[in-house]
Amino acid sequence: MVMADLDNLKTKEELSWHLVGQIEVLKTKPCRKIYMENGPNLALFYVEPGKFFLTNAACPHAKGPLEQGSIEDLGETYKITCPLHYYSFDLTTGRSASGLHLKTYQTEIREQELYALIPRPVSLDR
Ligand code: FES
Repeated sequence: MVMADLDNLKTKEELSWHLVGQIEVLKTKPCRKIYMENGPNLALFYVEPGKFFLTNAACPHAKGPLEQGSIEDLGETYKITCPLHYYSFDLTTGRSASGLHLKTYQTEIREQELYALIPRPVSLDR
């Protein structure tokens, strides 16, 4: 198998809905790291009164810890600014004025629990 085929398989990895946690617990922190089984760490952002955003935790610039970044309200969406070199990313689309793209994941609240459309199960603790 050639390298291009391997990359294609990785990007086509099947996504399914996985439980992230109880809303009451997740609302206690605006930013937290989430641990994916055999996958990249994720960053979960909570914005009052009930909006969640899920992204890769590593900044696409130089792997800065986005869960330690600062969230800013842009009106229709929110952005996260990386604490290392201050690049910012739209939390809905992952876009950045830098041209870099942050991987984002769909989330859904179901009866006081948050679910995410991701490749593998996650936990709040390592
Ligand atoms: S590592 Fe995030 S902006 Fe450089």
